[in-house]
Amino acid sequence: MLDKARTLPADQVFLDLEDAVAPLAKEAARGNVVAALREGGWDDKIRTVRVNDLSTPWTYRDVISVVEGAGEHVDCLVLPKVRDAAQVIFVDTLLTQIEKTLGLPIGGIGLELQIETARGLVEIDAIAAASPRTETLVFGPADFMASLNMPSLAVGELNPDYPGDPFHYVLMRLLVAARSHDLQAIDGPHLQIRDVAGFAASARRSAALGYDGKWVLHPDQIEAANEVYSPTPQAYDRAELILDAYEHATSEAGGATGAVMLGDEMIDEASRKLAQVIAAKGRAAGL
Ligand code: GLV
Ligand code: MG
Repeated sequence: MLDKARTLPADQVFLDLEDAVAPLAKEAARGNVVAALREGGWDDKIRTVRVNDLSTPWTYRDVISVVEGAGEHVDCLVLPKVRDAAQVIFVDTLLTQIEKTLGLPIGGIGLELQIETARGLVEIDAIAAASPRTETLVFGPADFMASLNMPSLAVGELNPDYPGDPFHYVLMRLLVAARSHDLQAIDGPHLQIRDVAGFAASARRSAALGYDGKWVLHPDQIEAANEVYSPTPQAYDRAELILDAYEHATSEAGGATGAVMLGDEMIDEASRKLAQVIAAKGRAAGL
């Protein structure tokens, strides 16, 4: 799996020490993760490691083993089941100590925080603000459903017994917290790995809100993820057109106008901001 992951067109990899690793295998997994990071071959993928959550006995040694063993090859740690800001501050402080000891750049290792419990969602604003290392908030639908006692085993899926999207509130709440702290917002995994259409449908719901991406658990999900979170060529072209038209209209040559017509649509500064979002995603996707 590790060898294959190096070759896949995913933007990021995370090597797991948490729920994909059985308790009896936790110690050996640390060594495997360190070896995989040191071997390299990850090209320009963002390299992250998910440590165990702070209610377990494993977290501190996960952080120390991984960062002492391969700190210069780690871009971010993923902290699961974050309950409050104090947990984030603890990991931030521990990282700073290890970075100082090893002579690594202070603050160089970022944090991705999984929001996947009722408590984490209640504390989300303080969690998002807790550390300058934090880059991303990640929704964890499986643990979140368990935390809420949601009576369904179909992780992240719509439920025919509920007339709406049962995840709308949490997705929107997480997105607002992320954006208010200039963080990325990432949707969580889709466990039915053979159901690529279901994955894509779930991805489209969070992409429509403004999410930046979604975890993939299997190579088959990658193409759909890359497609869903990139704008269509039509949307991208329209966004670039709006940016050009607005730049011209507001320039001296265009009469320094704040609001102009582009076809049947009035565009103004807010249109420019919206277009900028789509254009940036399109440029990043190489459109
Ligand atoms: C991911 O960690 C999840 O719980 O969905
Ligand atoms: Mg989880």
